[in-house]
Amino acid sequence: MTVFKNKTDLIAFVDTLKSKRNTLGFVPTMGALHQGHGSLIRKGLEQNDFVAVSIFVNPTQFDNNEDLVKYPRTLDSDVNLLNEISEEKIIIYAPTVEDIYETNVLSTSFSYDGLEHEMEGKFRDGHFDGVGTIVKRLFEIVRPNTAYFGEKDFQQLMIIKKLVEKHDLPVNVIGCEIHRTNDGLAMSSRNARLKPAYRKAAPFIYKTLKLAKEKFDAKSANKVTEWVTKQFAKQELLELEYFIIADTKTLKTAKRKSNQKSYRAFIAVYADDIRLIDNIALN
Ligand code: PAF
Repeated sequence: MTVFKNKTDLIAFVDTLKSKRNTLGFVPTMGALHQGHGSLIRKGLEQNDFVAVSIFVNPTQFDNNEDLVKYPRTLDSDVNLLNEISEEKIIIYAPTVEDIYETNVLSTSFSYDGLEHEMEGKFRDGHFDGVGTIVKRLFEIVRPNTAYFGEKDFQQLMIIKKLVEKHDLPVNVIGCEIHRTNDGLAMSSRNARLKPAYRKAAPFIYKTLKLAKEKFDAKSANKVTEWVTKQFAKQELLELEYFIIADTKTLKTAKRKSNQKSYRAFIAVYADDIRLIDNIALN
């Protein structure tokens, strides 16, 4: 399996694939790959001739330098996992920071019609500018037909769809269901950093989301939010940053329930210094 470290070689390779009328799927990642990524890649392989996987810890989307420094970097085991999925049909692009940003490690400022100001946008300054910058750049280099993103980062998925629409990028964006471990924890590269006691406590997040979904049938968004907040106040190891019930289209916090709208609950929790996010469709 070839690992491309620079865009010039990758661009030439993709040119050849395209000249032979192959279709290309794309799964952008920051590495530390797990079965959640595996499921996106498998979906890509079902729907395309080849799948490109980028592995790049993008510095401009981190609002916290310690998180950037500690983010797991596991290229060798990532390549092994990809080899197990397919040796012939996967192309890896693992660029250096210079290959992507040259000497200017800065993000462009984007407007996503307000989606960027909700939830993660309130807690992670500049995060979605960094995500938009890298995803747009990767789409321009890789030129996929279809790109696959997990719904764990549901707000990111919505923002990328908006980026594609506003900039007229010729990429089809597909959202894929959250992949969970047997105890319900949403798969994330950050899970590998959880100390055992925090790892044991973390499935409480999804358990609470499922109960919140049940309660939402009969109770208001406010009442459910109060209930969730109380449950987390009793948890010693998990610190709730936010729990929000939002309109799935606008991501704005739901005030009054309407049968015409669809809602989703979003949560961010600290387990020690590891920030975990998750979400669930409510109706
Ligand atoms: O979801 C991620 O892993 C990252 O935000 C992405 C989309 C690869 C951009 O760096």
